[in-house]
Amino acid sequence: MIENRKEDHIRIAESENVETDHNYWDDIQLIHQPLPEIDFDSIDTRVRFINHEINFPMVISSMTGGTDLAKKINYNLATAAEKFGIPMGVGSMRAAVEKRDLADTFSVILERKVPVRIANVGAPQLINQAKPAFSDKDLEYIFNLIDANYLIVHFNFLQEMVQPEGDRNARGILKRLQDVASSYPVIAKETGNGISREAALQLRDAGVRAIDVGGLGGTSFAAIEFYRAKKAGDQEKMHAGRSFWNWGNPSPASIKYCDVGIPVIGSGGLRNGLDLAKALLTGAVAGGFARTLLKGADTSSEQIQTEISYILRDLKIAMFLTGSKNVSELRKARHFITEPLKSWLDIYVK
Ligand SMILES: Cc1cc2nc3c(=O)[nH]c(=O)nc-3n(C[C@H](O)[C@H](O)[C@H](O)COP(=O)(O)O)c2cc1C
Repeated sequence: MIENRKEDHIRIAESENVETDHNYWDDIQLIHQPLPEIDFDSIDTRVRFINHEINFPMVISSMTGGTDLAKKINYNLATAAEKFGIPMGVGSMRAAVEKRDLADTFSVILERKVPVRIANVGAPQLINQAKPAFSDKDLEYIFNLIDANYLIVHFNFLQEMVQPEGDRNARGILKRLQDVASSYPVIAKETGNGISREAALQLRDAGVRAIDVGGLGGTSFAAIEFYRAKKAGDQEKMHAGRSFWNWGNPSPASIKYCDVGIPVIGSGGLRNGLDLAKALLTGAVAGGFARTLLKGADTSSEQIQTEISYILRDLKIAMFLTGSKNVSELRKARHFITEPLKSWLDIYVK
C-alpha cells in the first residue's frame, strides 16, 4: 500500500539515523571578511528561480502526500512557503492518481498562497512497470490538482533497487521525458544520489527547464529502505540498503556537473543557511531542503516557520560575513574546497 509506505518514510526519516556518513557541504570553507562594509538590514536575498522572482533562494523540497499525516505536513509547509515567499514541492503524486480520494492531501497547499507550486511524479511511472505507465491525462490531472507552475520528474533508481516493492525498468524513460517536457515545464530531480555530467547533458537535451541535483550528503534512501526492509524481515533488501548507504554523487559536485546552461537547484544534505550559502556559491539558483524541515512541519506551522526563519537568518549572516550585499556577490565569495569533495570536482570539472 502506497499510504503505508509514505507513512513509513516519514516516521523512519524522523526517528532513525538515515544520513550519509559524510556531508559534503563541510568540504567547502568560506573566508571570513572582518570588514564587510555593508548594512545587514539592506542585504538583498531575492533571486530569479527559473521563470519566477522569489524573496529567498530557498525551496521546500518534495516530500509527501497521500496520508492524513502528509496532509498536515504539506499544509504546515505551505504556510511557511507563503510567509517567506518561497517555492514548494509536494511529494510523489502517484497516490492521487491511484486513489482520487487522496487528492486533498496534496491540494491542501492551495489553502495558502504558495508563490511557486511544484508537482511531482517518479520517472519510473513514465513507462510501463508491473503497472502501466501514467497517461497524458494522469499527468494533466496531477499538474492541475495543485495548479502547478512546474512538474518535477524525480529519478530514484537506487531507492527502487533497495525497496521491497521497487520498479525495475528504466528503458524508454528519456524518450518519454522528452514528450512530457514538450508539454510541461519539467524540473528533473534526484532524491539523494545526485546527477552526473552525462545525465545533466541528456536531461538538458531532453528539454527539461531545470535540474534539482538531490545529491549525496544528507538523507539516504538506501538507509530509509534498509529500515523498512528490516521491519519486513527482507534480508536481501537490507543487505543492498547497507551496501549502498553512501552511494551517489555529492550535492556540491552534482551542481558543478550540472553546469550545462540551464538553472540548477542545489539540494541534498542542506542543514542550515550556511550550507545554503555554499550551494549558492557553487552555482545553484536556490537550495532545496527536505528532511531538515520534516520534524518542524510535523510539529506545527509556527514551528516550521520559526525554523525556516533561522535558516534564512543564517544565510544573511553568511552573506554579511563574506561582504555580499546580494546573491550575485555571494556567488563570488572567497572560498576553498577540501577533500573528499575536491577529488569529485577534479574528475571532470575543468
Ligand atoms: C520523507 C521523505 C519523503 C520524500 N519523498 C519524495 C518524493 O515523493 N519525491 C521526491 O522527488 N523526493 C522525495 N524525497 C527526497 C527529497 O526531496 C530530497 O531530494 C532528499 O531527501 C535529499 O534532501 P535532504 O538531504 O535535504 O533530505 C523525500 C524525502 C524524504 C525525507
